[in-house]
Amino acid sequence: MALEKSVLDRDKISMLLQTEYGLHFIDHKKLALGSANCYKVRCEEGDFFLKEYQSDFTMDRVDREADLVSYLRVRCFPVAGFVKTLNGGHAVLYEGHVVSVQDYVEGRTYLNDLPHTLLMKSAGYLGRLHTLLKDYPLETEMDYRWAESISSEAVARKFDALLVTLEEERSDPQYAKIREDLIFKKNLMACIDDWKQFFRGITFSATHGDYTACQLICGEDDIRAIIDFSSAGRLPVVWEIMRSYIQSGGVSRSDTKLDVEDLAAYVAEYMKYAPLSRRDLEAMPYLYLFQLTQSSYGYKEYLVTKTENREALLDFAFWRTGICREIYGRAKEISNVLTASMN
Ligand SMILES: Nc1ncnc2c1ncn2[C@@H]1O[C@H](COP(=O)(O)OP(=O)(O)O)[C@@H](O)[C@H]1O
Ligand SMILES: [Mg+2]
Repeated sequence: MALEKSVLDRDKISMLLQTEYGLHFIDHKKLALGSANCYKVRCEEGDFFLKEYQSDFTMDRVDREADLVSYLRVRCFPVAGFVKTLNGGHAVLYEGHVVSVQDYVEGRTYLNDLPHTLLMKSAGYLGRLHTLLKDYPLETEMDYRWAESISSEAVARKFDALLVTLEEERSDPQYAKIREDLIFKKNLMACIDDWKQFFRGITFSATHGDYTACQLICGEDDIRAIIDFSSAGRLPVVWEIMRSYIQSGGVSRSDTKLDVEDLAAYVAEYMKYAPLSRRDLEAMPYLYLFQLTQSSYGYKEYLVTKTENREALLDFAFWRTGICREIYGRAKEISNVLTASMN
């Protein structure tokens, strides 16, 4: 669901495509997915994907994304190329929003229910991606310095503040469950200082940054394109691996049970294309937990900002906290199973 109301309509899209891209508009269709406002546009020249980014996106950011996409494209990695404007740009600014046009890729996008064969194939593409991007210059995120800068007390205070807000909602049917989750997360803050050491000695690579099923365009049994590199950064590769497995469909939305052997198979598929060290495999569950336990996403939207789709966001938050419980209880086992595969 788009987060902001679109500034575009049929006439504006037609005019923009004509004057900025020299494309001859026939018709358009608003796409259901995406937090941006996304359209399929049919032109005499072919079909295209038009994206009106949220207002906080800058031209610079989209330029960086387009540069990364063309770097991958010339290396035969399946991406959707950015169409250049008549002035040679990657995007245009229209009524305060950056707008880009990309090649349209026919296919299906899954939310969090990627069929298992495609899930395993997606691990292979992630491995290929990291091998191609290993030395690509992007800003480093989630490194040891960042981990060190996080104060467990400050995060605990954030959960305390939400618990105070929750007390004003005692009659809410979700009150008890939210309370239990926030207290669980707050208590986990006692562990995060111990987990910081896992940010040392691990592999970093430039990566997608939000590699999940909704960023894949799939055919029946193949992946046709990896899209939306707007969150790309230099990150711990194992964080992206574990997150992508869990969020794309490795763990079902109806429960939070992790099949460790299946995760190990996903990692093995990845390792056909990119190396991981023993240290990476050992650190994987702790890195993932470190980031996830601190997040108040969903609870904050439900209790404080009262976002329009707050019920759905709260459901997602419940699921993610369930994942935290599962990984927390089995972190050592996960490390052991993954590192055993190196013997
Ligand atoms: N090049 C493309 N061709 C066809 N469909 C696309 C293309 N890019 C994105 N989409 C569809 O639009 C949805 C939203 O696009 P995306 O770039 O991921 O936007 P957002 O940044 O809002 O997540 C995708 O999930 C996919 O279904
Ligand atoms: Mg997306």
